[in-house]
Amino acid sequence: MTEKTITVVRTRVALQQQVRDWKAAGETVGFVPTMGALHGGHISLVEKAKENASRTITSIFVNPAQFAPGEDFDTYPRREEGDLALLAAAGCDVVYLPGVAEMYPDGSVTDVRVNAMSDLLDGVYRPHFFYGVATVVARLFLHAQPDVAVFGEKDFQQLQIIRRMVDDLGFPIRIIGGETRREPDGLAQSSRNLYLSAAERRAAGAMYAALHRASVRLSIGALPGDVRAEAQAHILNAGFRSVDYIALVDPGTLAALPDDVPLAPDTPARLLAAGWLGRTRLIDNLSVSR
Ligand code: PAF
Repeated sequence: MTEKTITVVRTRVALQQQVRDWKAAGETVGFVPTMGALHGGHISLVEKAKENASRTITSIFVNPAQFAPGEDFDTYPRREEGDLALLAAAGCDVVYLPGVAEMYPDGSVTDVRVNAMSDLLDGVYRPHFFYGVATVVARLFLHAQPDVAVFGEKDFQQLQIIRRMVDDLGFPIRIIGGETRREPDGLAQSSRNLYLSAAERRAAGAMYAALHRASVRLSIGALPGDVRAEAQAHILNAGFRSVDYIALVDPGTLAALPDDVPLAPDTPARLLAAGWLGRTRLIDNLSVSR
């Protein structure tokens, strides 16, 4: 296979010019925003973008606005060269690599807040996080002006918040969810898996195993409260230091479903978990139905 060359663009003005040229030639644009340290999960999002548009842009920007002081902004893996090679091999056309000053020009004071949904689940533990995500994604959308954008279902709350932002603000962009890619033991692929020690990596698959077992129990009418407690015990017994939440929610609003009522037949629900393995915070989720 001949590898395509990949164009690197570092400024908003140059990216907007490229997109204007493409659109003038009748092309459509698919966009995959990332923070780099790319893995198979990201590449599957690029493939989905390619299926849905004639040109593909991937952005790599480790967004300071979504990290709180004390979180891993400084140590977040940065692997520009390897990322560019992976994207070239995947047939991505352009990589957008803006610096902080390009994304947040001097004196930048405008934020985007998707209220309510951003304060639930992960938002309880990382109150700044989804405001930083919505702000940077809105800015990236204005820079890349895509027709479609692809986000991983692994970050399900993020995906639903972006969908809501796009609906509320009227961005003319179709949002597509990309299925979570998993390791053979079920661990969801994530750039932060690089932080796991060998022993932690062996334990990490327990989160998926617990969620999978929980989804089967819910599908046969077990009570959500019992199932959530069992899943939490499973994850802690496997060696996780703590569990932030195991939640069963309405996928659209992310509102919690009642603990004492079995899932209603044919009503979609989402089961989400977050927990700590040593110093690494892992999240995962599964769709459930009865
Ligand atoms: O999912 C991510 O990698 C980030 O949250 C995103 C969407 C690129 C925004 O910085």
